[in-house]
Amino acid sequence: MAASGEPAARGVALSKAYGSGDTAVLALDRVDVEIDAGRFTAIMGPSGSGKSTLMHCLAGLDKPTAGEVWVGDTELSRLGDKALTRLRRDRIGFVFQAFNLLPTLTAEENITLPGDIAGRRADGAWLAQVVETLNLADRLRHRPHELSGGQQQRVAVARALAARPQLIFADEPTGNLDSRSGAEVLDFLRRSVDELGQTVVMVTHDPNAASYADLVLFLADGRIVDRLERPTADAVLERMRRFDVRGGRQVTLPAPED
Ligand SMILES: Nc1ncnc2c1ncn2[C@@H]1O[C@H](COP(=O)(O)OP(=O)(O)O)[C@@H](O)[C@H]1O
Ligand SMILES: [Mg+2]
Repeated sequence: MAASGEPAARGVALSKAYGSGDTAVLALDRVDVEIDAGRFTAIMGPSGSGKSTLMHCLAGLDKPTAGEVWVGDTELSRLGDKALTRLRRDRIGFVFQAFNLLPTLTAEENITLPGDIAGRRADGAWLAQVVETLNLADRLRHRPHELSGGQQQRVAVARALAARPQLIFADEPTGNLDSRSGAEVLDFLRRSVDELGQTVVMVTHDPNAASYADLVLFLADGRIVDRLERPTADAVLERMRRFDVRGGRQVTLPAPED
């Protein structure tokens, strides 16, 4: 995948408006973005700048108001609900800030659950490699409450990787973790790119977390306003100081009868 040269995902003139009239919020404002295959991309920006909305649109979890989302050579708006569900299931993994593990299942059962629901046999060799890379082998029979935060998030990462998706999206995956657990998760996301050939897109507000990525995209007011290759934490911090910290822009959309 890394060698194909085609972006793993792409947004073309993506806009997303929430609400209507006086209270409408333009969360994304004509964003053009390419996610390179086989790379680790971080998305940064102030709270409310549209980071989660961009990830959800690129992952097919939310529909843009205007513009196109491509995953590989598939444009998502052309897919029916079933095909979209299948694409999400087969090609995309999502890691949430709140790990969303089921408390009554073991780590292993949580990891294989999506495949079990889809009625698919797990690729044993791949799963073993994921578990090994995430250093979870001796935790598989534990339930979430018996695991540290970092271990729980690694289980959530393993769950996202289990179906061998082309693309992993992680929305502030270290937001609920102490710095040591956060470093574990970041290290493993990095290794999943370097050693397993994954494509990773991660939202973070932490310059240190962003420094694990190959590229940082900066969002402000629903637009990509800057990018930084081979980021260091200091360089990220320096760029962040250039943008004033504001929330999503309030816009007034014309009423339908206007
Ligand atoms: N479901 C929603 N309904 C209304 N407004 C929303 C919704 N989701 C997000 N927004 C608004 O869109 C803007 C961008 O939100 P979001 O993408 O969550 O930003 P970020 O992840 O960068 O904090 C914010 O102003 C937010 O309040
Ligand atoms: Mg968010």
